[in-house]
Amino acid sequence: MDENERVLYDDGLHKCVMFSFDDEEQEDSFLSVNQFLIVQNESAVLIDPGSEAIFDELYDAVSRYVSPKNIKFIFLSHQDPDVSASITQWALTTKAKFVMSSLWIRFMSHYGFTELSRIMALPDRGAKIKFGQEFLEFVPAHLLHSPGNFSLYDSKSKVLFSGDIGAAIVKSKESGKKVSNFKEHIEYLEGFHKRYMASYKLCRAWVKRVTQLDVKIIAPQHGFIFENEDVNAFLNWFESLACGSDLLEELY
Ligand SMILES: [Fe+2]
Ligand SMILES: [Fe+2]
Repeated sequence: MDENERVLYDDGLHKCVMFSFDDEEQEDSFLSVNQFLIVQNESAVLIDPGSEAIFDELYDAVSRYVSPKNIKFIFLSHQDPDVSASITQWALTTKAKFVMSSLWIRFMSHYGFTELSRIMALPDRGAKIKFGQEFLEFVPAHLLHSPGNFSLYDSKSKVLFSGDIGAAIVKSKESGKKVSNFKEHIEYLEGFHKRYMASYKLCRAWVKRVTQLDVKIIAPQHGFIFENEDVNAFLNWFESLACGSDLLEELY
């Protein structure tokens, strides 16, 4: 297996894979970026496929697990380029529906994407869809950091794909790992979350919603995954984080 790949869950029928491709031509490629794939039988969901620069590598990597024509959904947690900029390439090479917040649909044409009939718009309160014997739940994560933002919970693997929530600012070479000591990991989380997340009230609302789910792994779009006791360690830290508007005097 490639060093850019890590299997998060595999029971023979259902699999979750994490990829960590980044744009190596960028001199300042200091930020690790993760992409994810859920495969169940012959059906798949691709999560936050990212920028155009990594499309070829990611397409080849995904093809080793599933034929791209069997990708049913491509979920975009929010509108950022590191999440969504390759939407047109994926539209041309798959038959997938694109699942995203209704807030960002009108912006997708700026990435060259105009096939609006292929978009499944998520309402603010999220949605739950059947996927094989199980379900996928789009959990509201608004203003954490994007105004229209969702995490995705896979009920079979119990992995929560959390988008930018839980993102660590680590070098791209460091990506694809798991947190081994949460206290030591905080320094890689703190600056990003304080500045990008909107307020502790929103952090708390997300944590409240997430604790109603049975989560075994939190898999963010940047940096390391949280497993077992580190899931709770992260949730405890995040729900009382002063960030964004809580730190108004640092901004104005
Ligand atoms: Fe983002
Ligand atoms: Fe991001």
